[in-house]
Amino acid sequence: MNAVVVGAQWGDEGKGKVVDRYAARAQWVVRYQGGNNAGHTLVVNGEKTILHLIPSGILNPEVRCAIGNGLVVDLDVLTREMDALAGRGLDLSDRLLISPAAHLILPHHRALDRARERKDAIGTTGRGIGPAYEDKVSRRGVRVGDLFNPDRLGARIRARLPEVEAQLGFLGESDPGLDADAIIESCLAHAERLRPHVADVGEALWQAQKTGERILFEGAQGVLLDIDHGTYPYVTSSNTVSGQASSGTGVGPNAVGRVVGILKAYCTRVGSGPFPSELRAEEAERLRQAGGEFGATTGRPRRCGWLDLVALRYAVRVAGIQQIVVTKLDVLGGFGDLPVCTAYEVDGRRIDNYPEDPDVLERAVPVLENRPGFPRFEGARSLDDLPAEARSYVEGIAQVLEVDLALVSVGPGRGEDLELMDPFA
Ligand code: GDP
Ligand code: IMO
Ligand code: MG
Repeated sequence: MNAVVVGAQWGDEGKGKVVDRYAARAQWVVRYQGGNNAGHTLVVNGEKTILHLIPSGILNPEVRCAIGNGLVVDLDVLTREMDALAGRGLDLSDRLLISPAAHLILPHHRALDRARERKDAIGTTGRGIGPAYEDKVSRRGVRVGDLFNPDRLGARIRARLPEVEAQLGFLGESDPGLDADAIIESCLAHAERLRPHVADVGEALWQAQKTGERILFEGAQGVLLDIDHGTYPYVTSSNTVSGQASSGTGVGPNAVGRVVGILKAYCTRVGSGPFPSELRAEEAERLRQAGGEFGATTGRPRRCGWLDLVALRYAVRVAGIQQIVVTKLDVLGGFGDLPVCTAYEVDGRRIDNYPEDPDVLERAVPVLENRPGFPRFEGARSLDDLPAEARSYVEGIAQVLEVDLALVSVGPGRGEDLELMDPFA
């Protein structure tokens, strides 16, 4: 069957590494939402690759990759990423498809994103994600397919700019320096390069499935950043949950298959918003250094905290997670006892369920239970190789969440993990 990889926390759970691993057993890897706010890190033979738009299956030479209709695409970032991969000898010619219905992120989207952040920060990546999705939903967007209809593309951009300029003026950017001709020209400059890659992604996946090929759907961000189900308004502007794998690619929900949730053995978040199990500065710094917790897209230090089982139980529900992958278990080696958050206390009352109301979540104090710590370890390839407490730490997570433990990741490099279950089986 097919499978979808979804982040179960606030992003950066290690989805890229896991997708790269599972891609070896798939014929297709397809992204279904987000844009270059994502930063997915792959370490293969010691070489690090950070992908922002191209699916994390691309380093497997037999795999075909697709950018679904649910994405917002910055053409400069996409073509730079394509160039970098081609420069390393990867032939993308018939290995990368881009949906004509994916929307473009244009310079005015980035300008709006940044101007809003200057006024009222929620800590976005500043890549124009929110404004590009706003234009999509308000039917003012420009899509990849418009690159091949210059009149329509030009008309849509020209129609939109005056309104954006007025908005920017309101935000204190009276001279944003946006030039419709330059924006149009820059879009069209990418058109011929991209033309061979633009194709109906849903149809390609449908046909692939009919011939027994396997599809891996790659989520970006995480469930708690979902526009509907996350910590609104401190969220990203797309649905990040596994349900989006269907509408973001053009195949039905029955094609999505098994849902695999990726979670870190602890928890991080970039940007503002509630984070009940967040650690105070010194302890957070220790975890940040041990785990290298700096954003793969913006380089910002990630906020760090203990594992939050309340939030994870919620993620299991909204994303329908059946199997979990626990990453970065190695990072916790040598930390001493490991607190995990098993409930919240809100206004003196204990709650076991994740509150939908962000104000309640903001006031939530974590109820922490200590799990026995474990020493540093290296080279584990099976659960038996792990220190006993490390094994019970990960097995305990799966037990509380009532899901299967599919994989435990114990290092950033390809192959540094132990597999317990095949998600495609
Ligand atoms: P993604 O956005 O979910 O793909 O995750 P990121 O790539 O933004 O962040 C995950 C970081 O952790 C990257 O630097 C990975 O190389 C690294 N990483 C992934 N899995 C492991 C692991 O099991 N152990 C360690 N030490 N690092 C890992
Ligand atoms: P990956 O795919 C972690 C966060 C931003 C901000 C909020 C909104 O690498 O896990 P946006 O630019 O999307 O409008 O920002 O979402 N954010 C991420 N945090 N990992 C990501 O992606 C993220 N993409 C967006 O920090 O808080
Ligand atoms: Mg990331």
